[in-house]
Amino acid sequence: MTDFGTKKGGYTQMKGFRQKAEYALNRVRFLTKQRGVINTCKFIYSRYLYFFKYRINLAGVMTPQELNIQNKGACNYEPIAHYTFNRMLKNINFCWHESTFVDFGCGKGAAILLATRYNFKRYIGVELSPLLVDDCRKNIQKFIGNRVLDYKIVHCNAADYLIEDDVNVFYFFNPFAPSVLKSVLDNIELSLIKRHRKIIILYCNGVDLSLILDRGYKIVYSEDVDPITRYSCGNYALGN
Ligand SMILES: C[S@@+](CC[C@H](N)C(=O)[O-])C[C@H]1O[C@@H](n2cnc3c(N)ncnc32)[C@H](O)[C@@H]1O
Repeated sequence: MTDFGTKKGGYTQMKGFRQKAEYALNRVRFLTKQRGVINTCKFIYSRYLYFFKYRINLAGVMTPQELNIQNKGACNYEPIAHYTFNRMLKNINFCWHESTFVDFGCGKGAAILLATRYNFKRYIGVELSPLLVDDCRKNIQKFIGNRVLDYKIVHCNAADYLIEDDVNVFYFFNPFAPSVLKSVLDNIELSLIKRHRKIIILYCNGVDLSLILDRGYKIVYSEDVDPITRYSCGNYALGN
């Protein structure tokens, strides 16, 4: 039986309009019961429809198996909701336009596309799934059209990504297991030893927040429950 609440894949494997429509209807019923009608509408718009105006499809939840990822520490792909991302950045006082943004586990690029509204100097996406790397590059190209954007999408394990010393905004949306997060935090610290600077860690659905707090970072923004998605793990921004 399909579980409409948990983030299991499945939709992408479904064949035929009828099966997909039935699944979508049941998912909407589940969400409405869980979050109420208004929040469900906001959630669907923010997660599934927002990018339709750019003809970019970021939707869907995909399991590591569906993504050809053998790495056991990988979480499912799902895009960030634009409300969640914007609420966070709007509420933090930081010079985004003088900063470089990196998304660890960038998926199809939702957060990078949303970050362009804040005019970062440079954007980096790090992604383990070859399928998503490809989608992400195509989505960004489609989104920017003829505009110039300084960005790169790197296909590797986040744990192996060596952090350049201009990167100062680190974004995570529940991408991987604590062991990978620890390695990324180690790499951030190495990069700070090379060149000390002010950084911000944006952590959405922060299930392993304690790992970041243990390193002495201080919370500069938090919401315990996302008011629209109703995820209860919280969204946080931390600074050094
Ligand atoms: C929840 S999605 C977040 C997508 C995107 N950051 C966003 O906000 O829309 C998590 C992503 O992390 C990727 N991922 C999982 N483990 C990874 C790893 N070790 N290195 C790089 N990416 C990884 C997954 O393939 C997935 O695309």
